[in-house]
Amino acid sequence: MADDTTDTKSSNQMWGGRFASGPDAIMEEINASIGFDKKLFAQDIRGSIAHATMLAHQGIISTDDKDKIVHGLNTILSEIESGNFEFSRQLEDIHMNVEARLATLIGPAAGRLHTARSRNDQVALDFRLWVKEELQKTEQMLTGLIAAFLDRAEEHAESVMPGFTHLQTAQPVTFGHHCMAYVEMFGRDRSRVRHAIEHLDESPIGAAALAGTGYPIDRHMTAKALGFREPTRNSIDTVSDRDFAIEFLSIAAIAGMHLSRLAEEIVIWSTPQFGFVRLSDAFSTGSSIMPQKKNPDAAELVRAKTGRINGSLVALLTIMKGLPLAYSKDMQEDKEQVFDAAESLELAIAAMTGMVRDMTVNTARMKAAAGSGYSTATDLADWLVREAGLPFRDAHHVTGRAVALAESKGCDLAELPLSCLQAIHPDITDKVYDVLTVEASVASRKSFGGTAPSEVRKQIAFWRARN
Ligand code: ARG
Repeated sequence: MADDTTDTKSSNQMWGGRFASGPDAIMEEINASIGFDKKLFAQDIRGSIAHATMLAHQGIISTDDKDKIVHGLNTILSEIESGNFEFSRQLEDIHMNVEARLATLIGPAAGRLHTARSRNDQVALDFRLWVKEELQKTEQMLTGLIAAFLDRAEEHAESVMPGFTHLQTAQPVTFGHHCMAYVEMFGRDRSRVRHAIEHLDESPIGAAALAGTGYPIDRHMTAKALGFREPTRNSIDTVSDRDFAIEFLSIAAIAGMHLSRLAEEIVIWSTPQFGFVRLSDAFSTGSSIMPQKKNPDAAELVRAKTGRINGSLVALLTIMKGLPLAYSKDMQEDKEQVFDAAESLELAIAAMTGMVRDMTVNTARMKAAAGSGYSTATDLADWLVREAGLPFRDAHHVTGRAVALAESKGCDLAELPLSCLQAIHPDITDKVYDVLTVEASVASRKSFGGTAPSEVRKQIAFWRARN
């Protein structure tokens, strides 16, 4: 460092002009972000190349300097990619690490790169580019998960299982229908991702520190070069805004909540007591002491990752909530939350896609369970409304008595003799037995979005056309 101060620590070469000495060790530790923001190296270099190209195009720097800068930046990119770059904590962050290396590589021309920009718009740019790419990746991963569910739904459009409310047997549904519920959930997540990409598709570079710049820059040119729809419209907002990161975390939290509900169902379904599904060896573990066990660890970890993602969302909302405009250093704490949540979300989606594709579905167990717990009681009530002309409330009452009788006899509704049913209501005929099976029950629910296999197949076709 070109600083002849007698102090043992030298001042920062990027902003040290008015500083006589360097930072205290603790200051350096709390201030540095290179430990995590080095993840942004590719975005930082892309952003700098676009900025330098624009500066030269506008005649703000010479073409010669621009060529040196671009060449140097490309060299740095390959150095980092090949692991031959030494990151320095003294240089605080990725922006200054890259710029300092550029100075070593190309000399004084490096000092012209930072014309008409600040680290405030630079970091906003790098981070936006990173989050945009992550959202695009998330969109693809959700598409893969949806595809896995569509395949299982198709395979099981007719497989009957108990539908639950309060985790108590409610009415028979099909496993295909249940799978399609998740398609809807992850489909909504994916459309949130698409909206978020639209929201963040504005280029921050050129907002400079907060007020814009006096240099004749062309922000539309850099926006275009970096693949953004347009430049942001308010330089103050541009450097204070982290909505794009918070939106990513909100989407991740909602998707995580969906993944966690699925994880919980898989945990329940794979118990010997339920036995609805068997996880593949690839997504379960054994116990070191109990040889019979097969544990749904991957599902449990997906459930737990959701807690981490929620934590990250709350952390960033809390970091941002009291900040005056424009940039404050607090905002440096945004990245770790997003990086951690992105990693968790990617893992959770990947693990779930694998589990859904691999699990063995025990249709016999599902069907047996579907018939227990008087799951066709509503069908009996509906039959009384339709065939005997009873008001639904009365039919409900009659059915309640039939359920109580079956319960006292320890049998199913379909096993009650006709004489017993007629003793409860004289208009009941033997036709009623047609609706008391689980297959008849699901086949009858043909309302739009209902569980009838014919309806489920329509919904599968709808989603296939959109996936
Ligand atoms: N490392 C900083 C961050 O992540 C870069 C921006 C620093 N800006 C500043 N004015 N100190 O937020």
